[in-house]
Amino acid sequence: MNMMSEAAVEKALDQKMNTVPFKMIGKDVSVYYGEKRALFDVNLNVRENTVTALIGPSGCGKSTFLRTLNRMNDTIDSCRVTGKITLDDGDIYDPSIDVVELRARVGMVFQKPNPFPKSIYENVTYGPKIHGLARTKAELDQVVESSLQKAGLWNEVKDRLHESGTGLSGGQQQRLCIARAVAVSPEVILMDEPCSALDPIATAKVEELIHELRTNYTIVIVTHSMQQAARVSQRTAMFHLGNLVEENDTDKMFTNPDDQRTQDYIMGRFG
Ligand SMILES: Nc1ncnc2c1ncn2[C@@H]1O[C@H](COP(=O)(O)OP(=O)(O)O)[C@@H](O)[C@H]1O
Ligand SMILES: [Mg+2]
Repeated sequence: MNMMSEAAVEKALDQKMNTVPFKMIGKDVSVYYGEKRALFDVNLNVRENTVTALIGPSGCGKSTFLRTLNRMNDTIDSCRVTGKITLDDGDIYDPSIDVVELRARVGMVFQKPNPFPKSIYENVTYGPKIHGLARTKAELDQVVESSLQKAGLWNEVKDRLHESGTGLSGGQQQRLCIARAVAVSPEVILMDEPCSALDPIATAKVEELIHELRTNYTIVIVTHSMQQAARVSQRTAMFHLGNLVEENDTDKMFTNPDDQRTQDYIMGRFG
């Protein structure tokens, strides 16, 4: 006798998700570009081995929040971040933090595939070399094969590892960028609209990959596609005008969100 109503099953799943530990905690995160405030006291936590999707209308602060998670905003002169963000228990804005090391732990994949104008092999070995994770040819060969395997690209490129990464198709280039991120054994992978420059078939491949990567990595993905958020994520956070409107189980967000603004956005009423 184990008959649970659909609602009860959903609740149980929610509770299960609610027991997943936080990998990153964002507390009262605000971001300013000069005088302009782009984020308002955002409290958003990222669960381990979970795909968290950031959605919301253009300009609402999704990329800005994503970039706070590996201090990518440090590269923008006018940008100032307040609040606190932790990775495991460490404050990533603590002055003692080595930002290069942080970005190895929290990797990033950008909107437009951006392989280096070098060989496929060198694209993957670049990170492990500078971080001293692999030195000998055997170690480098190993990291190239395993990273390309994880990115679902090995079979397509194994016979042309020494050809240029920029000669690949758009979808392959993006998977190469994922291989490059994975090569330094990150714990968290940030993706900012990783499929927006890809065709539907390449998009489907990357989505499938995100699904697989979740087993070993914590993933935060910005997407303007609600279908994509629904397909790839377990948690969804909705932003509007620099505020976090709601963060919830993805199924709940798309069926029965708590906030009217989420409802409106999902119904296509704005954005
Ligand atoms: N480098 C920047 N300099 C100044 N303003 C910026 C910069 N990047 C983003 N902004 C502003 O911050 C707000 C949030 O932008 P962004 O995080 O890119 O939104 P989204 O990714 O949701 O489209 C927008 O008003 C945008 O114009
Ligand atoms: Mg953006």
